[in-house]
Amino acid sequence: MLAMHELSFSGDDKPSKYAALLPQIEAVFAAETNWLPNLANCTAILKEAFGWFWVGFYLSKGGELVLGPFQGTLACTRIPFNKGVCGAAYTTKEIQLVPDVNAFPGHIACSATSQSEIVLPIFNQKGAVAMVLDVDSEHLNHFDSADSDGLAAICQLIEKYIVPAID
Ligand code: SME
Repeated sequence: MLAMHELSFSGDDKPSKYAALLPQIEAVFAAETNWLPNLANCTAILKEAFGWFWVGFYLSKGGELVLGPFQGTLACTRIPFNKGVCGAAYTTKEIQLVPDVNAFPGHIACSATSQSEIVLPIFNQKGAVAMVLDVDSEHLNHFDSADSDGLAAICQLIEKYIVPAID
C-alpha cells in the first residue's frame, strides 16, 4: 500500500507516466482548496517523476509574469509579457516547444545550464492567460509531443482546480 505522499508511476515511456500521474495530481488538487500549496506540490510531483532541471510557474500579475512555485535553481523573478519563451507563450497563447534555447530569439537565460524548454499557457475562464508552466532541461531537444500532450492535460486540471481559487 502506498503512503499518502508516495507517487506511483510504472512504465518508462512518457505517455504512460503522464497517464499514471494525472489522477494522482487531481487527487492532490481535490484535497486542498488553496492554490499555493497545490501549485507547489504540482512542481514537486513533476520534478520527482521526471527529474527535470527546472519546473515551475510564472503567474500573470500587475502586467508581467511573476515567479510562482518552482523546483530547481534560483530563477528570474519577473518576465515582461513580450520577452523570452514564457512571454511568447503568454502573447501567442500557444505552447512553446523549444529544442535549443540558444536558437530562440529573446530567450531569457535564468541558468546557462538550460538547453531546451517547453512552456504552456494556462487560461482563466475569460480566456486570458493566468499563468504559464515552464519546464527546462539541461539536454538539447529533450521535449516532444508526449510532453506537450501530457503537460497540457495537467494544465487543464490547473485551469479547473487552481485558477479559479487564485486570490
Ligand atoms: N527561459 C525562460 C525564463 C524562465 S527560466 O527558464 C526559469 C524564458 O525564456 O522565458
